[in-house]
Amino acid sequence: MSRRNQTFVCQNCGAAYGRWQGRCEACGEWNTLVEEGAERPMGPGRRPGKGRLFALEPLSGGAEHAPRLPTGIAEFDRVTGGGFVRGSVLLLGGDPGIGKSTLVIQTAAALAQRGERAVYISGEEAVAQVRLRAERLGLRQAPVELAAETAVEDIIATLSEGKTPRLIVIDSIQTMWTGMVEAAPGTVTQVRASAQTLIRFAKRSGSTIILVGHVTKDGQIAGPRVVEHMVDAVLSFEGEGSHQFRILRAVKNRFGPTDEIGVFEMTGSGLREVSNPSELFLSERDLGQPGTAVFAGIEGTRPLLVEIQALVAPTSLGTPRRAVVGWDPSRLAMVLAVLEAHCGVRLGDHDVYLNVAGGLRIQEPAADLAAAAALVSSLASAPLPADAVYFGEVSLSGAVRPVAQAAARLKEAAKLGFARAVVPEAARTEASEGSLNLTDVGSLASLVADIAARGNHDGKSRGQDG
Ligand code: TYD
Ligand code: MG
Repeated sequence: MSRRNQTFVCQNCGAAYGRWQGRCEACGEWNTLVEEGAERPMGPGRRPGKGRLFALEPLSGGAEHAPRLPTGIAEFDRVTGGGFVRGSVLLLGGDPGIGKSTLVIQTAAALAQRGERAVYISGEEAVAQVRLRAERLGLRQAPVELAAETAVEDIIATLSEGKTPRLIVIDSIQTMWTGMVEAAPGTVTQVRASAQTLIRFAKRSGSTIILVGHVTKDGQIAGPRVVEHMVDAVLSFEGEGSHQFRILRAVKNRFGPTDEIGVFEMTGSGLREVSNPSELFLSERDLGQPGTAVFAGIEGTRPLLVEIQALVAPTSLGTPRRAVVGWDPSRLAMVLAVLEAHCGVRLGDHDVYLNVAGGLRIQEPAADLAAAAALVSSLASAPLPADAVYFGEVSLSGAVRPVAQAAARLKEAAKLGFARAVVPEAARTEASEGSLNLTDVGSLASLVADIAARGNHDGKSRGQDG
């Protein structure tokens, strides 16, 4: 009677098949199918009993105001939208070693120090190792409750006792397993079932749960893409290995914005909040070098100034290289095409490299103008003025289009000591009087002509000197 219902589940994307095959048809990965037990005799196998009756409520009914619990770490609260919502589940993803465990233990400690019950369950480290880290962070005295456990049922049974924790950290979801399914820990089936059980517990008890998740080489939260759909918020913790700062970004957020970023700096004694990131991103600037432009950007509600660096050099290859770090490669291709088509800039036999300094990733089209300025500056060996910022979107026709929140961008630039801004024409009306010296550009071609003129001028004066 009890036919064992085996399925083969892709460990990369979670697609399920009735028989084994070498390649997953859903995601195209090879050798990722693993045999797993069925999740539960479900569907046609189970006799549908009579369902339990439940009450339907009007949408207009008294909304239980989502009570938020601020963590006290302002950069974290900014990303979640003002703190943890009762009963919500957050998935925190990031590369190994980026600082996820450090961030969550600091958050748990911040809450515990304010008298809230916070529990930290580690499936990866022993209690002694967690203590050692807490000591290094100066949090040895914080009343966080610790355990090294991986069995979800045991965790839930333990946490159901006593006062409901306000925050439960599960580090990491990949180490958890539940007896509900017959699959090895770490497999998609286990991760999904464990997450489901924990989510149900969060909704029932009102605790907030942070699930820490590892990220695979291609940036997906390993295996359990499926978990991303189940949780209320997906946060990703990013950073470049060689830089000390880290960025917390909401990829999905049912209770808040997804465009805010939190900026932290990894120091010898843990993560430090960076409340003025522009200063940090501009702190190591190559002043007066050709190929660098400062972009006045916006991340969420906060203006953020970053340096965009470009290197344009004659190629030795048949097909010139285009490499970009921190920006969208297709936007770079577009800006290059506009430079070629409308501004007479020939780049067909040049390699082009573009880098957003400090490991930040920017997504705004408003960076087009700054990227173009950096590219032309490098090609013409003409340094841009060190006290200028750039922003504006470039259209395919070569026109420079206005962008949102020009006033906020200009204000931030003025605050950091910049004296001029190269902006779309429309920005002038938004600017407050007398803060910055504005140069408005209507088309990319006029900007290119300006920069080229600086290059020629410099070249001539250098020639005269020599
Ligand atoms: P960790 O939080 O263990 O990363 P994850 O949980 O994402 O794997 O952080 C590990 C890295 O952080 C490690 O390379 C050392 C560094 N670190 C510091 O620089 N300062 C500190 O105070 C701590 C605790 C870690
Ligand atoms: Mg860790």
